[in-house]
Amino acid sequence: MKILVLPGDGIGPEIVAQAKKVLATLQSDGLKIELEEAPLGGAGYDAHGAPYPEVTQKLARAADAVLLGAVGGPQYDKLDRPLRPERGLLAIRKDLNLFANLRPAILYPELANASTLKPEVVSGLDILIVRELTGDIYFGQPRGVRINEAGEREGFNTMLYSESEIRRIGHVAFQAARKRNKKLCSVDKANVLETTEFWKEIMIDVARDYPDVELSHMYVDNAAMQLVRNPKQFDVMVTGNIFGDILSDEASMLTGSIGMLPSASLDANNKGLYEPSHGSAPDIAGKDLANPLATILSVAMMLRYSFNAEETATRVENAVKAVLAQGLRTADIYEAGTEKVSCSAMGDAVVAAL
Ligand code: NAI
Ligand code: MG
Repeated sequence: MKILVLPGDGIGPEIVAQAKKVLATLQSDGLKIELEEAPLGGAGYDAHGAPYPEVTQKLARAADAVLLGAVGGPQYDKLDRPLRPERGLLAIRKDLNLFANLRPAILYPELANASTLKPEVVSGLDILIVRELTGDIYFGQPRGVRINEAGEREGFNTMLYSESEIRRIGHVAFQAARKRNKKLCSVDKANVLETTEFWKEIMIDVARDYPDVELSHMYVDNAAMQLVRNPKQFDVMVTGNIFGDILSDEASMLTGSIGMLPSASLDANNKGLYEPSHGSAPDIAGKDLANPLATILSVAMMLRYSFNAEETATRVENAVKAVLAQGLRTADIYEAGTEKVSCSAMGDAVVAAL
């Protein structure tokens, strides 16, 4: 299995270094992996003048999975848009046709106080949001700003989904639900938007292949409300690009700790890009302060979804739970009574627990 590692910018190299320690440990235990490394984002611009350099593209296409730290930083803010680090991320997602974004929101019992919601509402929370990533109003044509018949300027975008796009994300979501508690909620706005009424119709059809999974439907405005009222009613949620963008950010904050949340973006053959949900945190970069657990948990997702190594994935997740149970905390999740550790010490502790 070929893994391309893209440390990126800011805290990216520090957190990725911890994930590499974990991979090296699994490798010495017999996991057959080969690692390559390449620059993306600001690092790509610095080395090759482009956020998604050709050398990175070549290695990314050849890899079975990609592990990314994060990209971006204030030193790149003045660049023209096509040269900015964030464009590197959009480019690699598009180039690898990564249409399925999987974002778990898990509240570990040891971090029960990290959430801004009441413990009884979020304790034991473990949900998965499946967001379609390459279609919808973000990519639909036509789009732009024009002058209308009345001579006034107007802005417009097109909400657009083809049947095959809905089917393939539907299958990813049903398969994920099948591996969990067999409950899938499809989120739409079928009462107002034809595109999402069509989405609902196709989801109901895809459900025929998964009689063991219970499919329900919810309007997006209600879903936003239910996520903070009673998030534990959900297991897996599936939705389009724009609703998923908003709901997955909302869900991630239920746990209160962005440094804990991994993500996966998959193509049709389970090739995937794995990355923490957070950014490059320029405010703490280079200080050995960052929480590497989201990146390490992204490795677990890689093992599960790209390499079908469920047992090894669980082993990594259990090692993370073990270090939390030991009371070790990076600064972002520190509270009185626990032991504050650096980014690299946290990585070492996970390796020891493994
Ligand atoms: P951010 O997620 O980088 O940081 C937000 C806050 O969370 C900061 O206070 C930061 O210190 C903290 N934080 C983030 N990750 C942490 C970790 N692992 N451990 C401890 N604390 C952590 O978001 P922000 O500040 O909006 O963006 C900074 C840069 O990152 C920007 O250039 C932005 O474009 C980029 N970005 C990149 C993403 C990616 O590579 N996928 C995603 C989001 C933002
Ligand atoms: Mg977002």
